[in-house]
Amino acid sequence: MFKPKVLITRKWPATVEAKLQQLYTVTLNEADFPLTEAQLQTALQEYDAVCPTVCDSLPASVLNVANKRCKILANFGVGYNHIDVMSAKQHGLAVTNTPGVLTESTADIAMTLLLMSARRGAEGDRLVRSGQWTGWCPTQLMSSDVTGATLGLIGFGRIAQAMARKAHHGFGMKILYVKPTPADPLIVADLQAVQCATIEELLPQADFVSLHCPGGVATKHLINAQRLRLMKPTAHLINTARGDVVDSTALIAALKTHQIMGAGLDVYENEPHLHPDFLSLDNVALLPHLGSATIATRTAMGEKVLANLAAFFAGQPLPDRVV
Ligand code: DGY
Repeated sequence: MFKPKVLITRKWPATVEAKLQQLYTVTLNEADFPLTEAQLQTALQEYDAVCPTVCDSLPASVLNVANKRCKILANFGVGYNHIDVMSAKQHGLAVTNTPGVLTESTADIAMTLLLMSARRGAEGDRLVRSGQWTGWCPTQLMSSDVTGATLGLIGFGRIAQAMARKAHHGFGMKILYVKPTPADPLIVADLQAVQCATIEELLPQADFVSLHCPGGVATKHLINAQRLRLMKPTAHLINTARGDVVDSTALIAALKTHQIMGAGLDVYENEPHLHPDFLSLDNVALLPHLGSATIATRTAMGEKVLANLAAFFAGQPLPDRVV
């Protein structure tokens, strides 16, 4: 029986890889090395389906390879700013993603970073590990209160709303948000959330600003030097969205000069080669893009890709079609 040829670009949870092996002539990436652009182009020529993820860059120049066999990019992840989806469409490639299943785990990481930044968790950990901790003292690592503070959300999609629920119902935080389209009135009422007309209106009011917009050209450097200047000097910036939403150079300057109190970052410009100045700053908590990294979530993401592939090869509508 004909089995489509499928390439998985990185290591996936074992249970999902086992299912793929039953269904397809699949090439896994046991060594988990990132593929080069040339390898991705060869994959487009040799496989019926390529399943990339956030670390695989697929711009028009890569997609434009001759003699393509591939007909679907079944992305492992909700964000797809690493794929030029318009070019993919022009080249006759369907693109799917994995929305819905990583909402809570990503919102949990946003709350983790908010708490780490507010309560100086990473600094405390470094102090204990350094052997320099001399014991409790009344003014050591004093930090910012989270309970009752104001959280400003830029973007108000699934992940932002999940974070708002945790922050409002768990920590009694007041919720502000900016969203280009109307939000569900029931969700707004449940969170007692207040909509701001602009980012400029939100920034001066928030103790914590958390970013939840997609990456890409439209949001590149949405948070720049000018907007950082609008934040309170006691405020913290949290980014679990995409690195290029924030101008790293401007953020580093704002952290160095204590123009804002702190930041918590899970994503970076030019990931994983983040700006080296972040590493020497004490007032930034840094995580290695862990948003969706729970066993259950990563497995559910793989299951979503399986469902998209199954529909594609059965000629059925794609459950999570991007283009
Ligand atoms: C996504 O799904 O877009 C995450 O950033 C990668 O897990």
